[in-house]
Amino acid sequence: MKLSQELLNDIIEITSKSAIACYPFIGKNEKILADKASTDVMRKELNKLNIKGKVVIGEGELDEAPMLYIGEKLGSGDGPEIDIAVDPVEGTNFVAKNLPGSMSVIAISGKGNLFNAPETYMEKIATGNHVPNDVIDLDFEIEKNIKNYSDMTGKKIHDITVCILDRARHKKIISELNRLKVNIKLISDGDVSGALLVSDKKYNVDIFMGTGGGPEGVIAAAALKTLNCKFQGRFLFKSNEEKFRAKKMGIVDLNKKYEINEIVKGESIFCATGITNNDLMNGIYKKNDKFITETIFTHHKSNLEVVKKIFPLLD
Ligand code: FBP
Repeated sequence: MKLSQELLNDIIEITSKSAIACYPFIGKNEKILADKASTDVMRKELNKLNIKGKVVIGEGELDEAPMLYIGEKLGSGDGPEIDIAVDPVEGTNFVAKNLPGSMSVIAISGKGNLFNAPETYMEKIATGNHVPNDVIDLDFEIEKNIKNYSDMTGKKIHDITVCILDRARHKKIISELNRLKVNIKLISDGDVSGALLVSDKKYNVDIFMGTGGGPEGVIAAAALKTLNCKFQGRFLFKSNEEKFRAKKMGIVDLNKKYEINEIVKGESIFCATGITNNDLMNGIYKKNDKFITETIFTHHKSNLEVVKKIFPLLD
């Protein structure tokens, strides 16, 4: 199904407004309140759209979440059937501490085209659109991925940069990257933007890898697919309860490695508005009596585009 330009404009407006809702909480050490403020605005605005929308990536399930929950119906109920992935505040710690890296994110597709990801971890690997298939793979050893990338691009190993979340679970990967003398861009949170850094040489990240949120993996894949980048993901389950939930959501093979085309089918729209500054766009800033937002989006073009918007102050 074709997603209209009008819908893209609407989504840019919505992530801008949900980012602005978070503004009063920047640097206030109130990540729950920040998330709630953005979520409330996102829900209210999505409900104004003439769509038959359903949240497929959200924050928890109905019984446990005051947030936008998986399965929640959004929109007027008329119009196109749309799957919606939301992350009202990606990088809640960054907002709480007034650090770079937070953004408000929505990805949408036609019904049935976005993977219904459970709230578990996902092992991920991503690289740019200049890399052919089969060069980088979740199943390869780290060394093989790095050597393949180096052979394919002609880039020396010590000039290759890998972005990865700074987590104890990545100790082995990080020491292997150190041994190989690869540059590491270690991020403390925010692996949606971490993954998107492979999309353009100007960000100077060659490969993104490591384990982060599954929902964040699907959201990043939506953008990367439009940009013709490479992404693979495999869910990781910590408990039987997580496995049970995944099965309930229709996942049959719990160990499956998913290719990007299986995670996102057909056309999609991805929009992310900066809350605090980050590598991809500026955060919200106040100028005189206005808020100015910057939103990156993907739709049809093969590069991330940035749009600025101006909004009146809320009060
Ligand atoms: P929140 O904004 O929801 O806190 O998520 C931030 C984040 O860093 C994600 O980008 C990432 O996928 C996930 O947390 C990693 O989870 P964990 O902190 O448990 O390693």
